[in-house]
Amino acid sequence: MTATVVQLKHEVKDLSLAPLGKQRIEWAGREMPVLGQIRDRFAKEKPFAGIRLAACCHVTTETAHLAIALKAGGADAVLIASNPLSTQDDVAASLVADYGIPVFALKGEDAATYERHVNIALDHRPNIIIDDGSDVVASLIQHRQNQISDLIGTTEETTTGIVRLRAMFRDGVLTFPAMNVNDADTKHFFDNRYGTGQSTLDGIIRATNVLLAGKNIVVAGYGWCGKGTALRARGMGGNVIVTEIDPIRAIEAVMDGFRVMPMDEAAPVGDLFITVTGNKHIIRSEHFDVMKDGAMVCNSGHFDIEIDLKVLGEKATEVRTVRPFTQEYRLKSGKSVIVLGEGRLINLAAAEGHPSAVMDMSFANQALACEYLVKNKGKLEPGLHSIPVDVDKEIARLKLQAMGINIDTLTASQIEYMNSWTSGT
Ligand code: ADE
Repeated sequence: MTATVVQLKHEVKDLSLAPLGKQRIEWAGREMPVLGQIRDRFAKEKPFAGIRLAACCHVTTETAHLAIALKAGGADAVLIASNPLSTQDDVAASLVADYGIPVFALKGEDAATYERHVNIALDHRPNIIIDDGSDVVASLIQHRQNQISDLIGTTEETTTGIVRLRAMFRDGVLTFPAMNVNDADTKHFFDNRYGTGQSTLDGIIRATNVLLAGKNIVVAGYGWCGKGTALRARGMGGNVIVTEIDPIRAIEAVMDGFRVMPMDEAAPVGDLFITVTGNKHIIRSEHFDVMKDGAMVCNSGHFDIEIDLKVLGEKATEVRTVRPFTQEYRLKSGKSVIVLGEGRLINLAAAEGHPSAVMDMSFANQALACEYLVKNKGKLEPGLHSIPVDVDKEIARLKLQAMGINIDTLTASQIEYMNSWTSGT
């Protein structure tokens, strides 16, 4: 029997890639048991019947499972890419052809196409927006105030998006509820730390195939993503240097066993630089000037603003692609700087993003955050909302269960002890 191909309005690179995408989506599903259980429940309960949903995510095998779960729950969902370089074209094709989900995403799309896709997501007149970086929400607020009344709420996946939402709230323009998925424990402890740690190194290795052992690896930023990246870089035998602006995080990095210094001092000694700060121009003109010949720079923060590539371009006499996602900038000084993944998220540009096992929990949070918004429609104050602790804990419980790991429970006398203050020394 031949499968029915659903022709939808969509914009993907090549629908003939669908069989490969379907195979890879199914592979990822093996590591996503928690989201799978939620999908099966959604299929019975249909919490999103009549709900229009726009998701702006990295279009990966893991995001495919989120989109499939939302559709199973009755959502009328469209999916666009949250980064020009992160789309997996085979997955986009399969979502359209095999799962009947409209996708507007092409790996390598230019800025105008990206913006057009954001507008397509908003043309859907979403009741719920799932955002990764807050571009869709920012566009809604700036250009489509008349659609805010359609909105039940939004969810945000990433640290950068949360920083932007807080700024929107301070400016008085966040007039609807936004679920803070990033700060759920079952999200950032695992996705930001172990997901970014593994996938960043994966992207660097796929792009360059260089040996990391013995290299001076400079990790800029010691948030959860920086912690994971530094940990895994050390695991590969790198001599890891951390740069920070926060004194507490700097002490943490020192006591975790890393050298800590300002970028001015790290720049001349680093062999490989990885930015994960969420801020702009972490590596800039004065740093390029003192780098070793052949130093490699890449970014694993959300936006491509952490490395000042404009200034590097001005210093260069020639830019040539030496491998996929690897460009050599030959400088007037005679030295070269190697830029990986065009300064965009290296883990998604040159590799496949975080592994499925961590995205399972991140996207379980996304799915349940959407359900929470629908269940509490009209009751939530405008502004950021945490994922309820019981939801966070339930995701952890389901994950442990799927991993076949049991843990202890408190005895009655332990509960009593924890609730009393009379017994001391
Ligand atoms: N962000 C980081 N890794 C990801 C992945 N694999 N899928 C979707 N979003 C991601």
